[in-house]
Amino acid sequence: MINSINEIYCLGIESTADDFGVGISTCSGEILANISDGYIPEKGGIHPREAARHHAMVASDVLDEALIQAGIKSSDLSLIAFSQGPGLGPCLRTGATVARALAAYLNIPLVGVNHSIAHVEIGKLKTNATDPITLYVSGGNTIISAFNSGRYRIFGETLDIALGNCLDVFSREAGLKHKKGIPLGAALEKLALDGNNLVLMPYIVKGMDVSFSGLLTSAVALLRQKKYRLQDLCYSLQEIAFAMVCEVTERALAHTEKKEILLTGGVAANKRLQFMLSLIAKDHGVSFNKVPLEFATDNGAMIAWTGLLAFRSGIVTPIEESIVKLRWRIDRVDIPWMN
Ligand code: ATP
Ligand code: FE2
Repeated sequence: MINSINEIYCLGIESTADDFGVGISTCSGEILANISDGYIPEKGGIHPREAARHHAMVASDVLDEALIQAGIKSSDLSLIAFSQGPGLGPCLRTGATVARALAAYLNIPLVGVNHSIAHVEIGKLKTNATDPITLYVSGGNTIISAFNSGRYRIFGETLDIALGNCLDVFSREAGLKHKKGIPLGAALEKLALDGNNLVLMPYIVKGMDVSFSGLLTSAVALLRQKKYRLQDLCYSLQEIAFAMVCEVTERALAHTEKKEILLTGGVAANKRLQFMLSLIAKDHGVSFNKVPLEFATDNGAMIAWTGLLAFRSGIVTPIEESIVKLRWRIDRVDIPWMN
């Protein structure tokens, strides 16, 4: 029973791709817990059903650990939020099933959260940004967005694969391994530090959108030629891919005249990308904000916090409307808490 808005604890479940995460937030945005268990495929990319099996196996331990970290009992929870999309079907469905079961068992409301919006909202919570141009770059998404007329509008996005996916596929082709705590993009970033020869590769920006598949094909072809040092190829791939997203972010900034840039998503961990964006921010006299690493990659805390924002605006998701939405775009969701 919710007595006062200040006593609300929201538990958020994240399961869009390879991570199963549980976070707990208070109404004022204090993150009491943020626990995650990631699935690492033995070889190749993520297999959605295998990742979903992983999530089902770790769910109860991750939930227990989050409650212990927060120092509360499940009966103290007032709200369950979950990632309703976009993402991989089997993974989303596993998280949604856990969320529905918990909400029904505890007899508390359920809120379906758009995962892309959660990346923006946790960024705002954890930095000083209030109304930024956001560059959200991860393994599955590449979106340049900003709030306008009630929604987060998309100013630019990828026409094919996501930036993180481009870096990951190239890294795998180059024989780099995904280890716990060291994502492929981070391994590539390390090699790129020793590169200095910019090898020509396709730079594809169409209007306000970007395309990485031609760049990836070209980078892999150059790798197979064995003519260039791997460090130089990593360096060139980063320089070109990052310049593409920075160009669109800068144009969106100039157009919207926002006063803040926010960088979020797993690729936000990259120091070179952070540096490039910080230069743009400086040039335009706006602030540069990057989400702390723990909250940049997929996490349950961002779902809990965004669920609370929605709930405080009167949004709940009845069980019969809690079906997952694999391609749920950020610009399809009303954002009443920004008005
Ligand atoms: P989403 O569901 O939002 O698409 P995701 O499942 O891809 O997210 P994230 O943790 O947000 O998960 O992002 C993972 C991506 O971030 C991977 O492509 C990974 O290689 C990339 N990444 C992580 N660290 C770095 C880094 N230092 N430099 C570049 N890329 C990085
Ligand atoms: Fe994500």
